Amino acid sequence: MIIAVDGPAASGKGTLARKIAAHYGLPYLDTGSLYRATARDLLVAKSDHENVNEAVRAAQNIDPDSLDDPKLREPGIGEAASLVAPIPQVRAALLQYQRRFCTGPKGAVLDGRDIGTVVCPDANVKLFIKADTKVRARRRFLELEASGLMMTEAQVLADLQKRDERDRSRHSSPLVKAVDAHLLDTTNLDIESSYKAAIELIEGVLGDGGKTD
Ligand code: DC
Repeated sequence: MIIAVDGPAASGKGTLARKIAAHYGLPYLDTGSLYRATARDLLVAKSDHENVNEAVRAAQNIDPDSLDDPKLREPGIGEAASLVAPIPQVRAALLQYQRRFCTGPKGAVLDGRDIGTVVCPDANVKLFIKADTKVRARRRFLELEASGLMMTEAQVLADLQKRDERDRSRHSSPLVKAVDAHLLDTTNLDIESSYKAAIELIEGVLGDGGKTD
């Protein structure tokens, strides 16, 4: 079974996707971490998104064990990731990684921007998570504050708006809701209520046959 979870930054899709994966006993892939790891490895090589060959090399050589690196969550890496993400050859390299991941025997839960539209267009269930921009900025601000990073809420909001615009307007696999995705608005929901609503949506699509074990 494949479950696709898409949405903009800080919509809550990562937390939700992880919980959904645990609920159904499925492997989980945060596909944003692939773009972040590509950006990190490019920076380590003292290069950037303008060097397409280096960017593609970084995308082709991602070390799966490095995807939990806390450095990937830093705002600078998020910004750099949104600059490598529009490069079609980078997307093609990462598409192969994502497809290999979800062809395992159990299937998978993947979250990102183009899972329902490009990576897994035949997913059994597609969710598109949205939330008001200011609410997303507040959540991201609190996350960053808890991890000790000093940014004002206004800076976080401006960053988020810039990244949303880049993700939505890029030519290659832009952020867009798949026509057959189910919309979940988490603006007024906490994590537990969002999770409950997501499971209800999924069960509504699958009936009772969704559990893999
Ligand atoms: O979800 P995130 O903030 O970790 O994503 C980092 C960047 O990667 C974001 O700017 C958009 C890009 N991305 C993408 O283009 N496609 C995906 N499937 C996942 C992320």
